[in-house]
Amino acid sequence: MSTAGIHAGWAASDCHRSLTPPIYSSSAYAQPDHAALRALFERRADGFAYSRSGNPTTAVLEERITSLEGGIGAIAVASGQAATTIALCALAAPGGHVVASSRLYGGTTELLDDTLADLGVTTTVVDPWDLDAWEAAFTEDTRAAIVESIANPGAQLLDLDVLTDIAHRRDVPVIVDSTLASPALYRPGEHGADVVVHSATKYLCGHGTTIAGLIVDTGRFDPRRCPQRWERLTTPNRRFGVTFADEYASGASGLLAYARAKYVTDLGATLPATSAQQILVGIETLDLRLRKISADAVELAGRLAAAPEVARVHHPSIPGRPDAHLAARDFPRGTSGVFSIDLHGGEAAAAAFCDALELWALAVNLGDARSLVCHPASTTHCHLTSAQREACGVGTGTVRLSVGLEDLEDLWADLSRGLAAARDALPEAAAIGA
Ligand SMILES: Cc1ncc(COP(=O)(O)O)c(C=O)c1O
Repeated sequence: MSTAGIHAGWAASDCHRSLTPPIYSSSAYAQPDHAALRALFERRADGFAYSRSGNPTTAVLEERITSLEGGIGAIAVASGQAATTIALCALAAPGGHVVASSRLYGGTTELLDDTLADLGVTTTVVDPWDLDAWEAAFTEDTRAAIVESIANPGAQLLDLDVLTDIAHRRDVPVIVDSTLASPALYRPGEHGADVVVHSATKYLCGHGTTIAGLIVDTGRFDPRRCPQRWERLTTPNRRFGVTFADEYASGASGLLAYARAKYVTDLGATLPATSAQQILVGIETLDLRLRKISADAVELAGRLAAAPEVARVHHPSIPGRPDAHLAARDFPRGTSGVFSIDLHGGEAAAAAFCDALELWALAVNLGDARSLVCHPASTTHCHLTSAQREACGVGTGTVRLSVGLEDLEDLWADLSRGLAAARDALPEAAAIGA
């Protein structure tokens, strides 16, 4: 993983033997002649014409994440949200049905509930631990299922092998948002995922500098198995004059060719080359960062679980968690630095806790080198109904933590300050033995 994270997609063989992939800051690419430019537009030749649909720096990032996820191709896009939107649109728009985990990032739930619903996409939301409900949710019109490998913010895991097996028996591809896991901790393609999406903004970037998204085709999905269902991929496209599924014959992804030609180009959600380079630099240290962060998160989760101000800690290492066996089986390198706590005293206690912190920043990002906290009910999950929030384990007293790279004891000292403030905010402080 570390070797591919540093080398995949780039060799210092040209461009002045630059060791780091250079930033190709160019909107367009001059072609030798009319015929060459025509061939690019007619998809008869590979190359770069205009950076909205492809850029050499971004292409290195695409190759690197393809290698890290063990896929057959990838597209880099402007944000994690764009990655999820484009993956879902390419499979399910217009008018398809999606089976969605009840434990998704709030922005994904809102996307399905509102914007994709406007495009006629219908969604059935299911608890991914309820296999009967998962199985029953699929219909003739289901075009995709979507889950998170480690759910934000409760860090719940799922048995992806079983869930993908059920979906595949109905020829439905499964999209896995693997933002929290990153390929350093988990490769969804090895557990049956067809498409992997990342908010590269998070651990892949690692330093909170850049918004970016990635879509990876793991090579399992083949629309030619059900050509009528995937007509847009298996019949000649009127606009582009090609049949996208033909790409599979040469080992490339027809789905991604379609997504890039249609959605990246039309929606214009292009990743700038400067951003691609920042993600590439971040990936170089991904493995190291995730090891320390995951180990520190286990330690802090354990200490928080023993604190009287904390009603519950949502981390797979906490005794009694139903996903403990999955952590042991599928996540031997850890489950990232994201987890959440439920404080006694609801939002007032959560606010006092967050406001008292001096080292942990109050910010809605995660996966930064800096440790961050946020209150999901009033931020990332604020537009959801209380039932939707409950389904993904977000209560009024829930605080999400994203452990960074600082010294563990400094982080704990600051959390202790927050806990004291949460205790002081509680009228019934005595009742919890504080
Ligand atoms: C799990 C997950 N997926 C997707 C996104 C959206 O990513 P971005 O903010 O890069 O658009 C986020 C953002 O927090 C996230 O946490």
